[in-house]
Order: sequence, then C-alpha cells, then structure tokens
Amino acid sequence: MAKVLYPKTDSNEFSIFPFIGEISWGSLISGTQLSLFDDMPTPPRHSIVKKNSSIIPVKNKYNNTENVIQIQNRRYLGNKYKLLALIEEIIEKRCKPYNSFCDIFAGTGVTGEHFNAKNIKIISNEILYSNYVSLYAWLSPEYFDREKIEKYIDLLNSLSTNNDNYFSVNYGGTYFTVENARKIGAIREKIEELKLNFKEKCILLTSLLYAVDKVANTCGHYDAFRKTLDMVVPLKLRTLDIKQSENRNNEIYNKDSNVLINDIEPDILYIDPPYNSRQYCDSYHLLENLIVWDKQDLVGKAKKMDRSNLKSKYCLKDASKSFSELIHKAKCKHILVSYNNTGESKDNRSNARIKDNEIINILKDKGEVEIFEQHYKAFTTGKSITNGHTERVFYCKVRK
Ligand SMILES: C[S@@+](CC[C@H](N)C(=O)[O-])C[C@H]1O[C@@H](n2cnc3c(N)ncnc32)[C@H](O)[C@@H]1O
Repeated sequence: MAKVLYPKTDSNEFSIFPFIGEISWGSLISGTQLSLFDDMPTPPRHSIVKKNSSIIPVKNKYNNTENVIQIQNRRYLGNKYKLLALIEEIIEKRCKPYNSFCDIFAGTGVTGEHFNAKNIKIISNEILYSNYVSLYAWLSPEYFDREKIEKYIDLLNSLSTNNDNYFSVNYGGTYFTVENARKIGAIREKIEELKLNFKEKCILLTSLLYAVDKVANTCGHYDAFRKTLDMVVPLKLRTLDIKQSENRNNEIYNKDSNVLINDIEPDILYIDPPYNSRQYCDSYHLLENLIVWDKQDLVGKAKKMDRSNLKSKYCLKDASKSFSELIHKAKCKHILVSYNNTGESKDNRSNARIKDNEIINILKDKGEVEIFEQHYKAFTTGKSITNGHTERVFYCKVRK
C-alpha cells in the first residue's frame, strides 16, 4: 500500500490497487520481492495498458519473448521498474493533463518508456554514454528498418573466433568465459565496420549490452567479478522491442543534469539521482568501455578505465548543493523526486547523500510538497537482505 507521508493527513487517498489497466502489478510491488540486482521480469507483452498507446506487434521470428528484449531486461542498480505503479498513480492524480515528461537521470530509461505515448514528449538524459546509446535505441524518434536490424543481428550472432582481442585480453577468464569475451570483442569490432546510421548502431550496441549483461560473471554490477567462473551460457544477441510509433516527439541527451536543465521546459520533471557515494561509472565501467570502444589501458584487478570525466556530483558530500541548483533552475509544472531512505549504515558508502529535510526544504521553495512511499525488500550486495527497504517519491506542485 502506498502511503502519503507528508504532509500528515488522516485520510489516505492513495492506494496502489487497483492498478490502472487490465493487469494488476500488485505482485511486483508487494508480493514477489525481487533483488535490485535481479533481471527485471518481462511482463506479458502489451500488459502495460497505456491510454493512446498503439503497440504494433512484431510479426516475425522475433515475435516470441525469447528472442525479443524489453527495456527492463537488464540488471541496473536503483532502477525504478518496481516503482512504476506508484509513480504512475501520483502522475494520474496530481499531474494531468501533461504533454511532456523528462527523465533527467534516466539510467535504463524504464520510467520514461513507461509514459511514452504518441502525444507525449519523453526527454531522457544520462551522464553515461552507454546508457545514452541504449536510451537512443529505445526512445529516439528516428525510423529504422526492423528487417535490416534482424539481418545484422543474425550476422553478429554467427561470428565465431578463436583469436584474442582487446575485450578478451582484458575481461576473458574473469568477467566472462574466454569464448564469450572473444565473441563480444569480435562483435563490437564488427559493429564499427558495418555501414550503419547512428540509430542502427545504437540498436546493435544496445542488443550487445543486454546480451553481455546476461552472461557476465558478476552479481549485477562490475565493481568486481565472481570468484567462480560458472556463467558459461553462450552469448546471444536479440532484437529490441522498440515502440517506434510512440517515439515521434522524444529527445535524448548525454549531458550533466545541471547543464541540461537550462535548456528544457517539461511539464513533469522526474528526478532519480544516485543516492550515495557509489558512482555509477565505477559500477558500470565495463559496459561504458565496451560501448565507447576507445580501447583505453585499464587498471587494477577490476580492469577499470579512466572515469574522471564521468563522476557525478550527486555522489559527493555536498550533493544537496547540486540538487538545490537543479530544482532552482527547473522550469516545469510538476517535480517528482525518487530518493532512497537507506538510513545510517556502518558502511559509509551506502549512506544517503541528501537528508530528507534538505529535500523537503529545497522543494518547498518551489511549491507545495507531498511524499509518497512504497515498501519492498532489497538485496544490497547480492547476499544480504534488507527488510523494510523503502522507496519514496517526493512530489512538488510548482507554483506558477
Ligand atoms: C538511480 S539511477 C537512475 C535509474 C533509472 N531511474 C532507472 O530506472 O533505470 C541514477 C542515474 O543517474 C546517472 N547520473 C548520475 N549523475 C548524473 C548527472 N549529473 N547527470 C545525468 N545523469 C547522472 C547515473 O549514471 C545513473 O544511471
């Protein structure tokens, strides 16, 4: 049950059920509890019943879920797939009508994609280039030829090599089996050689990124690899279930949030920054290195590249300054902020960088504030279970 936490009221007008649409997602919210590192489940196709949505079924051999990737089929720390029903309910009750939605810390893009519809402009932004490429594949308006992409995917899947390359030399036998690492390197090199436009290249790179994530010998991020290399399933690229007809108004950016904010005026601004000192460029360095492909020298046991230009100010001690600047500059009607209440932990790295009362006070400068919360369990390291983990959404109706 989603609760209004702030301001305090006797009545609780918000409840998660029934979910808007034909399928109750109750089990995703409070029943089946998933790890933050779990692959997000593929819902039955067309299960997200969005008004004005026109999902065109893909009629080909890729039309079964085994061969088709959905945007949420990826492990990503802090992804908001399980929070979508709550976000949707707040938007239904507080923000309608709206024409544009900005997901300014988009990560996987699942939140923007959930609100994607023909008549809505989704603005997605990410500091990591690998995420930008994926967002571009899923959400940018450019037309692409599905059949051409499918042919390329077949071609890439058929590549085989016994030769080492940049990727296998650095990541073979640790993050991946040597066979998979060689294949990943060979596919990545081939994508550079093919004559592709940017959209096509982004689609193939995204297909590779999702496939790599499936065979990585990690517990969901790339800070370290698992000691036992038992992730031996062979790599397989699949096609992406892109809702091309819904993307026509969308915009995708690869900028610092606090720079982009000067240039946009969305009706709804959704803010989901990192919560603690763990930099996403550290956790996803390997995927970033694979997508950028400038073949840098790597350092340390975890084989990380230089990430100095990718560090987020939201992971630093004075994160609240950046947050305050972002809110101050925002030109929008509604602001939604997701922020974790990790509480005080002995592991200083997991402590939240911005305190609740700082968030409330900063938002109050802009308009009326309410807070909604959703409980679910979370795995913090892939091993330890934290019960009573809470995700909150701070909502601010911006004063005119
Ligand atoms: C909590 S995650 C967002 C998860 C996302 N909502 C999802 O469902 O996948 C925060 C994201 O913000 C990105 N990020 C961090 N600092 C940023 C900045 N200054 N500007 C843009 N993106 C940033 C990180 O790379 C990370 O992907």
